[in-house]
This record gives sequence, structure tokens and C-alpha cells, in this order.
Amino acid sequence: MLSKNEMSSSASLGTRSYTTDSSTAASLAFPRTKPFNFWVKLGIAGVLAYLTIQMINIETHGRRLQTMNPEDWKKVMEGHPYQRPAPDASRGPCPAINTLANHGFINRDGRNVTQKQLYEGVVKLGMAPLAAHFISRLPYSMFKQHHPPDGPFSYFRSAKTIDLEQLGIHNTIEHDVSLSRSDVNLPPYSTIQLVPERLEQMIYIAAKRTNGEKGDQQQKQQVYILDKDVYDHRKLCWLESIRDNPYLLVGLNQQMAITAETAAVLDILGRNLAISEDHLRSFFLDEKIPADWHPPHDSSTLGMFKRLWESFQGVQKSKATLPRDNREGSD
Ligand code: HEM
Repeated sequence: MLSKNEMSSSASLGTRSYTTDSSTAASLAFPRTKPFNFWVKLGIAGVLAYLTIQMINIETHGRRLQTMNPEDWKKVMEGHPYQRPAPDASRGPCPAINTLANHGFINRDGRNVTQKQLYEGVVKLGMAPLAAHFISRLPYSMFKQHHPPDGPFSYFRSAKTIDLEQLGIHNTIEHDVSLSRSDVNLPPYSTIQLVPERLEQMIYIAAKRTNGEKGDQQQKQQVYILDKDVYDHRKLCWLESIRDNPYLLVGLNQQMAITAETAAVLDILGRNLAISEDHLRSFFLDEKIPADWHPPHDSSTLGMFKRLWESFQGVQKSKATLPRDNREGSD
């Protein structure tokens, strides 16, 4: 039996009856019927199928650009000899992209670089195609030059080309606490200029672990920088920035970039979480592809995400501290 109140707020439409109180007003406007659910589900399935096909296309097209063995890579490199950048060339803070320019995989002067060039360049260097597809779009959406008369739609358009120095625009992709550059607010006040002492610190950490504190010159072994060494170096750089840089910003975006770069050093420039000192110096100091290096052919976007997490935790768990400084801050 319906109460008087309930009877007054119910209406009958054909065989179906709907209540008309305010809490069910939404279901009156959009009655949920089986056919509606069916079309929604079909739509979602269609979108997912489309995205999956797109991702497979990107992966298969990208893999075709990659060389699968060192012999093929040697042939590729014959067409891409190293040249030092001209004094007026444009260079940015990414050692890998500068290296691509020095070998002519992208414009050698680092100017007017298209997204296609950048994407193909980083894929040839061994980045997983899906990751490269998204990451190579970032600078073009960020660095479009807008003008006062531009309407709101201008902000949804991407730049056609970039100059590599634009990658150094602070807190876009570029960030504080870099492996080889100082924070922009600390000397030499450049996001692009390499600071050799930073690189030496990373190598020193690895050399100390390999050869002991004094580093016996007679028995000195080839130094490999391992994941743990990079995490210790990152932590020391971070603590230095906390100490010296009042404008330091390390949020989630910056963390994502920092951990991705750490993964790139260990898995693309290096192998299996290690890079030799010679290769590290070649990529960072000379921005040159070492003669005995070849790209990995098994990098995956999922694997990259796994590495991001490992890298995040690696820095978190690192025991490195600044000399005579135990103030690490707390949560
Ligand atoms: C299109 C793809 C890429 C873009 C847009 C990009 C951009 C950048 C930018 C803006 C930085 C500066 C971050 C900072 O402030 O330290 C950077 C750093 C770095 N990038 Fe890339 N990069 C790309 C691909 C790669 C690839 C494929 C590799 C490795 C093979 C790589 C390795 C690195 C490393 C190791 C750093 C850290 C340098 C440092 O901390 O001193 N990048 N990248």
C-alpha cells in the first residue's frame, strides 16, 4: 500500500511507474533502460578498441625504425658521423637529444626540429615507441609562441618546430635537481650548461664502491655506475638544492621527469641498470654516441613505468648524506 504522500508523488507512464521526489529527478530525466546501457557499453568498447589499434600501430611502426643488432647499427652510424656543434647551434639540457643533433639524426644546428624528427630520433636511440610518441609531443604543445591577438583556440594548437634551447625553459619539462646541470637559480644560472663536477660526483660514488676509498691506481678496474650510485647521486643533488636553492620546486611533475631520466640513463644509454664510466662521459660530456655502443631493442613503455617506481624508491631509500649534514628534513 502506498501512503498518501507517496501516491501523490508517483506517476504512471504506460507499464512503468516513476517516483517524482527530488532524489530521483535525475532518473526521470534519463531513465536507465537496457538499450541505453547497451549503447554506452558498445561506445566504450569501441573507444577502447580504437585506442588499442592506435597503440599497436605506434608500436609496430616505431619498432620498424629500430635496429635489432649491432651490425645494423654500425651501418646506420656510417651515415651519421659525429660533428661538434657550431658556435651558434642551439642546444638544450637533454644530453640524449643534443647527441642526436651532433650525429645529424635531427637538424645539426638544433633549430626548427619537427616533432617527427624528434620522435624518430629518440626511437632510433632505443626509447619505446609508445613512450616516445607521447613524450616527443610535450615540447610542441608547451612551446608554441602565442601572440596577444590570438583567440582561445590558439592554446590548443602545437608548435610546428622547436629550437633545442627551448627545452631549457625552466619548469616546463626542465626541472631542478638534475644529474649534470645546476638548478636555474644557482650558479652558473643556466639550465643548459653542463656542470662537470656534478657528473664527477656520480662517477666518484661508483669508483669508491668499485675501487675502495683510496682507489688503488694499480688495480683500478673499469667503473660501472649502477642504479644505486645514480640514486645516491640524485639524493645528494636534492639535499644540496634544499640547502642552497630557496626557489626549489620538486613536485609530482618534476619527480616524474627526474625518475624517467634516471631510467633512461640506466636502461637506454646503459644496460640492465648499469652504465660504464666511458659511455657516461661520452654521452654527457661530448654528447657523442660511443663507437662500441648500440641501442637496446627491448625497451618497453610498461618496463619504463616499473623503472620509474624503482627509481623513486631508490632515492627515497638511499643512505647518502651531505658531509657534516644530517638534516635531511622530514615528512
Ligand atoms: C622526446 C623525448 C625527450 C624529451 C622531450 C627530453 C627532454 C629533456 C629535458 C627537457 C631534460 C632536462 C631535464 C632537467 O632539467 O634535468 C632532459 C634531461 C635528460 N634526458 Fe631527455 N628528453 C627526451 C628523450 C630522452 C631520451 C630518449 C633519453 C635517453 C636515451 C634522455 C635522457 C635524458 C637524461 C639522462 C636527462 C637528465 C640530464 C640531467 O639530469 O642532467 N632523454 N630531457
